[in-house]
Amino acid sequence: MQQEFDNVFVFDHPLIQHKISLMRDINTTTKDFRELVSEVGMLMAYEVTRNFELEDWEVETPICKTTAKILSHKNKVTLVPVLRAGLGMVDGFLKILPQVRVGHIGLYRDHDTKMPVEYYCKLPDDVADTQVILLDPMLATGGSAVAATNFIKQRGCKNIRWVSIISAPEGIKALHEAHPDIPVFCGCVDEKLNENAYIVPGLGDCGDRLFGTK
Ligand code: PRP
Ligand code: URA
Repeated sequence: MQQEFDNVFVFDHPLIQHKISLMRDINTTTKDFRELVSEVGMLMAYEVTRNFELEDWEVETPICKTTAKILSHKNKVTLVPVLRAGLGMVDGFLKILPQVRVGHIGLYRDHDTKMPVEYYCKLPDDVADTQVILLDPMLATGGSAVAATNFIKQRGCKNIRWVSIISAPEGIKALHEAHPDIPVFCGCVDEKLNENAYIVPGLGDCGDRLFGTK
């Protein structure tokens, strides 16, 4: 994992890079796209948990008693996908972190204003005591990421990580300016946004490609 800017970490693992390249291809089918988002989610879960704390665990093997290491209970995690596209990353994360809870935030970008509009928010009651991992494959203008992080912070959450597959420099800057305490993890930092606030080169509309809606 490479630290690109202050508090921005880019997953340079070859498998992640390979799968993101396949996702970019306009000829990738909805079925393959969905599988790739899920697989990239699983690989990202492995990277994003790299500095989780371990604690001692007394266990008896078939040979003897020993003290082994397990994940510390301090790592209580809530995954929060941003609907819709964030849903595509959830099952990959759950393969690596099967015991965690999942909250949901529903936001869509208004096509004219490009501003995020909230339509749903359901989080576990004790979300404030957990490490929140926000999931959204695309960080474009950063409007959705800032709004989602605002909601999470309003619930008292302090430990928050943001995970995207592709980010635009503009989105990273916006999220970083609004929430400098939030580490941003992503697969690629692309070149720029176009006049419709799509990431260039990007992969198009992630929600539509995941759910076959266009
Ligand atoms: C996409 C994407 C992000 C947002 C990023 O969602 O999944 O949530 O755009 O753009 P931003 O950084 O400029 O806010 P979209 O609004 O298209 O909704 P959808 O997932 O329901 O299709
Ligand atoms: N949302 C997407 O799905 N793709 C983009 O490029 C920008 C926002």
